[in-house]
Amino acid sequence: MTVANTQPAWAIPGYLEVKNNHLHINGVDAIKLAEEFDTPLFVVSAPRIRHNIARLLEAKTHHPKLKLCFASKANNLLGVLRVVREAGIDVEVNSGGELFKALRAGFRPDQIEMNGISKTEQEIAEAIEAGIYTINLDSPFELELVERVAAKLNKRANVTVRLVAGVGTRSHAGLQTALYTSKFGVSPSQAREMMLRALAKSDSINLVGLHIHVGSQTPDPEPYAAAFAAMWEHLLWLHRETGHKLQHINIGGGIPVNYLRDEAHADEISEGERAMLGANLTAAEMMANAIDVVRASAREAGAEHLLDELEIVMEPGRAVIADAVTILTTVRNVKTRPETGEAWALTDAGYNLMLSMVLYHWYYHAVNASRAGEAHSERYRMAGPLCDGGDVYFDLHGDGHLPDCRLLPANVQVGEVIAMLNTGAYTASQMTAYNGRVFPAAVLIEEGGNVEVIRRRDNYEDLILNEL
Ligand SMILES: Cc1ncc(COP(=O)(O)O)c(C=O)c1O
Repeated sequence: MTVANTQPAWAIPGYLEVKNNHLHINGVDAIKLAEEFDTPLFVVSAPRIRHNIARLLEAKTHHPKLKLCFASKANNLLGVLRVVREAGIDVEVNSGGELFKALRAGFRPDQIEMNGISKTEQEIAEAIEAGIYTINLDSPFELELVERVAAKLNKRANVTVRLVAGVGTRSHAGLQTALYTSKFGVSPSQAREMMLRALAKSDSINLVGLHIHVGSQTPDPEPYAAAFAAMWEHLLWLHRETGHKLQHINIGGGIPVNYLRDEAHADEISEGERAMLGANLTAAEMMANAIDVVRASAREAGAEHLLDELEIVMEPGRAVIADAVTILTTVRNVKTRPETGEAWALTDAGYNLMLSMVLYHWYYHAVNASRAGEAHSERYRMAGPLCDGGDVYFDLHGDGHLPDCRLLPANVQVGEVIAMLNTGAYTASQMTAYNGRVFPAAVLIEEGGNVEVIRRRDNYEDLILNEL
């Protein structure tokens, strides 16, 4: 056994560290957590969430009127929402259920904006009744609907038009949301008429902004600049035509997370996927670029004051929560396949907790938390517990998204704990109970190592709670 003296490439000082050959999370021994709370277990780091938010807020240097709305679809555990709220930022919701959770987590209505492409009348009514910051409209139809619901409630609804502007990114097709081929938003050819219609209905509609979300895990600044420029053009046009000043432009989420900080597997992943998964674009860089592009056009149009007065909204999800959560999973079975010479390690967490593993063949780095300081140099076929051959942590499809195997220390034993890093976004919020696997517990670690259970583990009774 060789235990390295230096910290591995995935380590983050003060947060993810190796001590006594065990993974420690904010100073707490991951193996002790697994023993006390069982696995699979979501381990959420409050200090890391705050660190990530502070980093995103650096974008204020380039535009002080910045409003961050955490995309709660990325992770809507109440304990996570509470930490986010206490860090001083706002929230984005995508349904009545997420609105309910945001309010329950203590967000004021004016801190909440709502997206959604198939909102029901009831969800719209709930948003209007609560008096939220804005409802992002996905179609001309939805404007009519919001108008009707607001009139019925005798209230005025704040609305924002969600544009698509034909902007592509280098992310997965399913994660690109501003292309004309995507299901989201309103085309530029319809948006102007829609804005005029909204102004004409000012008794029940208060048109406050424009929105484009180019997509998730967007590695480059250019799509943001293109989206911002498209919204800016619409804002200027509306101001010229009607004198109406929009209060905000919402540039969406998508600030990427570097899932490949440990590059052990990088050369087994295709170049395009590597560029996307290993992106380092910061919110500040994105904002600097987008503001530069729009300022030039604002100057030309003599409209710099409009830009300075404008609130810019961002909706980061991943960049807040992905690397603030680790899933601990136990090896429950090992075997070798003499025909192929392969060693298998089978864990208790699969795509039931990390849906992106099957949706996008997403890479999450695996570390043997029980022997974190040892060289991870043996090739393993790692797989989850589900009765589905696709529930594996390696490349089954030949699309170059995942490596052919996972590297772990030699001689992995049943009972050893594997840590799946960067598993905070689109995991707990997308989990399923497939195969009757109960939802796991989640713990929150605070500065100084205090551990709080923020979600109890479900039991078998929970599996049948609503069945008659
Ligand atoms: C409208 C909207 N805003 C924000 C986000 C958050 O994206 P990310 O988690 O990549 O920041 C999403 C998710 O794709 C989204 O659909």
